Amino acid sequence: MNTTIVAFFNNKGGVGKTSLVYHLAWMYKDLGLRVVAADLDPQANLTAAFLDEDRLEQLWPDGNHHPDTVFGCVQPLIRAIGDIADPHPT
Ligand SMILES: Nc1ncnc2c1ncn2[C@@H]1O[C@H](COP(=O)(O)OP(=O)(O)OP(=O)(O)O)[C@@H](O)[C@H]1O
Ligand SMILES: [Mg+2]
Repeated sequence: MNTTIVAFFNNKGGVGKTSLVYHLAWMYKDLGLRVVAADLDPQANLTAAFLDEDRLEQLWPDGNHHPDTVFGCVQPLIRAIGDIADPHPT
């Protein structure tokens, strides 16, 4: 499989990283590409841009168990109880 990965990073806050990723994801999709947007920012602004409130609350309920998030996938490694779990793209 030939997959292109584009990472957006900048030390400065509020310069438009999230907005750019959000719009580029839609633009690439409209061009016929299959796109996965991976939100690695704990603020989860990109996730909030794509998903409605109800879905966000399902993915991030109160407590520490959030298996369907990126954080949930790396939890087994952080807790030294297993390998990275399979992601659940929404
Ligand atoms: N091209 C643009 N022109 C004007 N305003 C913009 C542009 N891109 C983003 N903004 C606005 O700037 C603000 C910050 O944008 P955004 O959240 O995308 O930045 P960010 O770099 O991801 O911030 P953070 O560092 O907090 O993650 C938002 O209010 C957004 O609507
Ligand atoms: Mg951002």
